[in-house]
Amino acid sequence: MPVSISTTASLYDRVRRVIPPIEWPAFSDDIDAILALKRERNAVILAHNYQTPEIFHCVADIVGDSLALARKAMSVEADVIVLAGVHFMAETAKLLNPGKTVLIPDLGAGCSLADSITASDVRLMRQRYPGVPVVTYVNTSAAVKAESDICCTSGNALAVVESLGTPRVIMLPDEYLARNIAAQTKIEIIAWKGHCEVHERFTPADIRELREAHPGVTVLAHPECPPEVVAEADFAGSTAAMSDYVGRHKPARVVLMTECSMSDNVAVEHPEVDFVRPCNLCPHMKRITLPNIRAALEEGRHVVTIDPDVADRARRAVERMLAV
Ligand code: 13P
Ligand code: SF4
Repeated sequence: MPVSISTTASLYDRVRRVIPPIEWPAFSDDIDAILALKRERNAVILAHNYQTPEIFHCVADIVGDSLALARKAMSVEADVIVLAGVHFMAETAKLLNPGKTVLIPDLGAGCSLADSITASDVRLMRQRYPGVPVVTYVNTSAAVKAESDICCTSGNALAVVESLGTPRVIMLPDEYLARNIAAQTKIEIIAWKGHCEVHERFTPADIRELREAHPGVTVLAHPECPPEVVAEADFAGSTAAMSDYVGRHKPARVVLMTECSMSDNVAVEHPEVDFVRPCNLCPHMKRITLPNIRAALEEGRHVVTIDPDVADRARRAVERMLAV
């Protein structure tokens, strides 16, 4: 049964600062249908911070950065999990919920970091650096995680690296995250050459231009940005850490050097903060839409499966991370 018009109207109140009224009718029918389907199918929607506001604020049950989504996936009670994010996130949710149905609305929602490395690349790194532990960013396939000692996210990478008690670690596949962590620890970090296609495009010159155009602006950057960008920012952290920073410091004007939807989603929570928005779109995150979330729930697609042998080994690496 469709939800009442007043429910959808109150949802619009939440996002009216970032979604023009003219666009709302295009969303409200799918939102109604998705809210009803979630109840019928006993489903929950997990949405990453880079999802568009009509998904993030209007249909998602659990939102956050990659670390929060992995943690919260462990305590989901529903039968079905729809992952509004990219494929590696859906795989992580499946690893932590082997008995549940995990759906991703578009199988093409990939990631340039996950595509930059294969399981055999990891085996070759181990041969080249015998005995050096392998820390793998969650932005990788389950097959790559299965070859790793432990996973990390941008939110816990330093703690994970320092938890291992070794003088050297291999950190895969994001070169910039590895170099940004190397700048904060005495542990020697051996990196790979993977890059996030969204964050690698920001430059220090972008920050200087922003500071000139908006004197006093606070600049926050994601650690997938090149180290020279992070060096010029006022703060660097995961998407959740950037959001927390805005909540704690309430800067008058802020710029988030990250994916575009992030500013919209944080702006909804902080109407008093002025967001300057030079951003880069993640084409993979943007493959997830209300219509394909609705279709995922209606048709039970696309089911995420992981080979059991790979899954057991990959799960160990994710669980070891969550224990840090
Ligand atoms: P976090 O949300 O963990 O900071 O990750 C950013 C990202 O690029 C995920 O794809
Ligand atoms: Fe991958 Fe970058 Fe898109 Fe995140 S923002 S999914 S790291 S390409």
